[in-house]
Amino acid sequence: QQDNFKQVIAHAKEYGYIFSSSEIYDGLSAVYDYGQNGAELKKNIKEYWWKSMVQLHDNIVGLDAAILMHPTTWKASGHVDAFNDPLIDNKDSKKRYRADVLVEDYAEKINQKAQKEIAKARKRFGDKFDEEEFVNTNPRVIRYKKEEKEILERLAKSLTNEDLADVKALIEELGIACPESGSKNWTDVKQFNLMFGTKLGASADSATDLYLRPETAQGIFVNFANVQKTGRMKIPFGIAQIGKAFRNEIVARQFIFRQREFEQMEMQFFVRPGEELTWFEKWKETRQKWHESLGLGKENYRFHDHEKMAHYANAATDIEFNFPFGFKELEGIHSRTDFDLKAHEKHSGKKLQFFDPEMNKNYVPYVIETSIGLDRMFLAVFSSSLQEEELEGGTTRTVLKLPAILAPYKAAILPLVKKDGLPEIAQELLDDLKWDFNVTYDEKDAVGRRYRRQDAAGTPFCITIDHDTKEDKQVTVRNRDTMEQKRIPMAEVKAMLAKEVDF
Ligand code: GAP
Repeated sequence: QQDNFKQVIAHAKEYGYIFSSSEIYDGLSAVYDYGQNGAELKKNIKEYWWKSMVQLHDNIVGLDAAILMHPTTWKASGHVDAFNDPLIDNKDSKKRYRADVLVEDYAEKINQKAQKEIAKARKRFGDKFDEEEFVNTNPRVIRYKKEEKEILERLAKSLTNEDLADVKALIEELGIACPESGSKNWTDVKQFNLMFGTKLGASADSATDLYLRPETAQGIFVNFANVQKTGRMKIPFGIAQIGKAFRNEIVARQFIFRQREFEQMEMQFFVRPGEELTWFEKWKETRQKWHESLGLGKENYRFHDHEKMAHYANAATDIEFNFPFGFKELEGIHSRTDFDLKAHEKHSGKKLQFFDPEMNKNYVPYVIETSIGLDRMFLAVFSSSLQEEELEGGTTRTVLKLPAILAPYKAAILPLVKKDGLPEIAQELLDDLKWDFNVTYDEKDAVGRRYRRQDAAGTPFCITIDHDTKEDKQVTVRNRDTMEQKRIPMAEVKAMLAKEVDF
């Protein structure tokens, strides 16, 4: 798994998808830049989300709120008081860790022991192996599973009750050592707020303290009445937004999975009080279908219902994805009740209500939120698409099987040779296609090498112009995934691409 992950990171750099931020200065931890291909893939994911959420839903509209917001927003939302991570320092190494992550990593190691037993048994019993039966009867596996469960439950309970002394006690009882120095000499656990602060105004004394938004959702809540009134929206309706969010994450690892600056694609859906759990289920289903429509493999997804809720929710689930480092949260679906709108009413003194003509009364709507990290979706798409394929004759090829609708370039136009008028024909085709599709041109190296290069970059089609093209006006279309080649009239290329790569 680790090797696979390293390969994903290296490939993302080599093919212009992702670079470390300010790399010439050795980078900035947990901050990344998207390169020439990454910017395209990211844009296409955004568009795919926006079209399915806003364009295809009559009752969902978009918004583009500012990153900087009035500071009271974050008091009202609860982020000033409750958007914290529990941190612990090691007294000897002076290193700082997230206390909950230390415990989770410890529990994961126990889980891995159980997995090892299962793998051993699978090898031993072969086809006859019944995993469920084994897990339920093997004493060692039962013990590991029980231990893991108990640790995670105790952690969740302590965090929900904000009992930080118990989190520390748990770390000490388990004998968790500092991963770097091996020392078990820990400080107390303290809460650390994840919001980035900044200042508005020129002079030091008159400056106002602001925060960079840690979620895009609050821009939607504070604009609820503006959008509802000017858009004459009727409940149920939604507001969708894509934008940057910032969190001063302490555990900065796993590449673009956990960043300090990232993008969210969020939608708040406003409903009648009492109907929120029905809508919660509906949105779970709708979002699942969206993911499945991309064809990244159903087996790579799973739902994880929350026992430990954020401070605003009465039901919550994560859509987890099988990343190169295991199943982790990709998207959150939360039933946020009327927590946010009520809190903003209280702090602003403005009414944030809806007059429901059918019920003939005013109420503060309840909210179902779908919130997906754009960068995590990028990593999900990219990592699950990267494959090493064994070919006939013992060779291998690296291919990035991105869903065609998301691929940066839809086609590469390749003149077979750099002479005899073939580049000119290729250029003509490119000039015609580029108004409708992002297409690229490549004339360097043998055509086989160029095919491999486009495979690795994720381009779904290569269109080759050869000497026959001059006579029969046909081109060879090569499919990235099947490597099949077929000849079609040049005049049909546009229609073929439209069929294969359009939304
Ligand atoms: N408005 C709700 C909210 O922000 P969240 O679970 O904290 O909920 C939603 O975040 C999504 O944002 C996550 O499922 C994840 O995909 C993404 N996300 C959160 N923190 C992130 C980080 N540090 N780096 C990248 N993506 C992140």
